[in-house]
Amino acid sequence: MTQVFSRRLGVNVDHVATLRQARQARYPDPLAAALIAERAGAAQITVHIRGDRRHIQEHDITRMAASVQTLLNVEAAATDEMEAILLRTRPHRVTLVAERAGEVTTEGGLNVSSQRDGIAAFCARLHAAGIRTSLFIDPDIEQVHASAMPGVDMVELNTARWAEHGGHELHRLARATTLARELGLAVAAGHGLNLQNLRPLVLGAPDIEEYNIGHALIGDAVFLGLEASVRRYLELLA
Ligand code: PXP
Repeated sequence: MTQVFSRRLGVNVDHVATLRQARQARYPDPLAAALIAERAGAAQITVHIRGDRRHIQEHDITRMAASVQTLLNVEAAATDEMEAILLRTRPHRVTLVAERAGEVTTEGGLNVSSQRDGIAAFCARLHAAGIRTSLFIDPDIEQVHASAMPGVDMVELNTARWAEHGGHELHRLARATTLARELGLAVAAGHGLNLQNLRPLVLGAPDIEEYNIGHALIGDAVFLGLEASVRRYLELLA
């Protein structure tokens, strides 16, 4: 398939909030980081509101929904609590993720095929409120097929295995991307991406249109500054 889009960088600012929460302080402010990331060329701001609120809080989403100039993508589990927050705060897009209490970070993609009706109903309610939807899944053919349903606009492919093991996983990501696009789904990727593994992914799976990157990009920003860090990642998407 020929690439007819420009690749977008979604900057995940969760870990700016992690630093704030470590002191139960008012700063650093993830909204301030979001605005800097946008100024540097990010196409989207991503945040993950977790059940344990270890970083992003509801008030962060409320403020970002009002101030982000590009697009606000909120990652959340498909729970009643999160649904109420999402319908109150109304981000542009919601990415549904699997969440296990106590996990250090997201451990895997959603098992869409085993809970298709529940996910379809959740996405339909978000869609009715004008919120676009994405599902975070492993690059698995069965999960891609299961994700193609009314009310779902996009899939985000989990790149954690690629980041950890490289190799054959790139082929799986490319195959899942091709299938998702054939089924009418837009394709994002994320998890564990950094300055070393991003470019090989872009070259190996060129039809992925959006990359959501947090931990490494914010970590690099500690040394480079946030604007410079965002620009370094953007260069790799060209
Ligand atoms: N995409 C999803 C769905 C995630 O859950 C995360 C982590 O919150 C990311 C992307 C970003 O991953 P990382 O922080 O490893 O760049």
